[in-house]
Amino acid sequence: MFENLKELPADKILALMQLFRDDPRDDKIDMGVGVYRNAEGKTPVMRAVKAAEQRLVDTQETKAYTGLAGDPAFGDAMVEMVLGSAVPRARVAAAATPGGTGAIRQGLELIRMAAPEATIWISDPTWPNHPSIIKHLGMSMREYRYFDNETRDVDFDGMMADLGTVAAGDVVLLHGCCHNPTGANLTLAQWAEVIALLQEREAIPFIDIAYQGFGDGLEDDAAATRMVASEMEQCLIAASCSKNFGIYRERTGILMAIAPEGETVRLTQGTLNYLNRQNFSFPPDHGARIVSTILGDEALRADWQAELEEVRLGMLKLREQLAEELRQRSNSDRFDFIARHRGMFSRLGATPEQVAALREKHGIYMVGDSRLNIAGLNAETVPVLARAILDVGI
Ligand code: LMR
Repeated sequence: MFENLKELPADKILALMQLFRDDPRDDKIDMGVGVYRNAEGKTPVMRAVKAAEQRLVDTQETKAYTGLAGDPAFGDAMVEMVLGSAVPRARVAAAATPGGTGAIRQGLELIRMAAPEATIWISDPTWPNHPSIIKHLGMSMREYRYFDNETRDVDFDGMMADLGTVAAGDVVLLHGCCHNPTGANLTLAQWAEVIALLQEREAIPFIDIAYQGFGDGLEDDAAATRMVASEMEQCLIAASCSKNFGIYRERTGILMAIAPEGETVRLTQGTLNYLNRQNFSFPPDHGARIVSTILGDEALRADWQAELEEVRLGMLKLREQLAEELRQRSNSDRFDFIARHRGMFSRLGATPEQVAALREKHGIYMVGDSRLNIAGLNAETVPVLARAILDVGI
């Protein structure tokens, strides 16, 4: 049986993680996988997470199963964190999932059950796991233009032209904030135009929000998602707690489906529960309980938000330093986009050969499409990277 298996393409981001580990150079710099690192190169457990875990150890009396949709307190806390008061809770069906990836997967399975013919539109470029899962599920997929390689900004005209051809019932996957891999994001005015177009086309938005709190702040980063939720009759939202709570390996995420109140929400909730049962039964609980403990306690929440804000501002400072360093060294403003981009990533717009030269000659690792993780830097390595970028002719 197993001899029939075929070689599968390696995930580019995860393959790069391994290449970096295998590199013996002491001064190598990892700007690959989307994991936050502080100036010492560590991914620390956040203070509030430690405190919430301690509280769980001290007070948790059972590890018996939760519901199929996970702990309801987690669902409520996440709906509030992501959606604020944009929609009544009664319009939201929600199920906890193993991470944001699990939420994407369950969302796509939900679409496949509700509208098997629907085409899923993804941004060009997008997180490589989006097309990979869509293909794996055998669903139809198309790309819309998103990034302008000249300006390193959103190609908004191209995006609107492509979304103008979306068929009724198609699903458009959008990044709620901190676009991965480009770092280039829509303004709220542009979001309003996208929403109007999707309404006109009768398409369904599917928002992937994995970096809330890493761009312009916890509330601002949710603004576009809230606008979509309040203005569309139906939409899907996949949210991750991996990055903003730093609980990557706990696999904590949630899928929300917003629908007209009543029978449709009930039906959707039942299907989400069913899909969880088919795929893994109950979602992981430890991370979800950390999150609901933090969000439900005023002091822990304030401390978590303060630490998240330190992380966000630290990345913004690195962006500004790198842009400034490149401005001075190149005597041009052609790298100013790095300071304009938001989130963990920026796409440099370099060729695969230049990315390979950065890796081979300078020990600097970034994804092949020239996505760099700004959190892989610190004040000392910013000039090293700037020098290397110019040295390989970017
Ligand atoms: C990334 O884009 O690097 C992260 O989301 C990690 C992953 O799973 O790919």
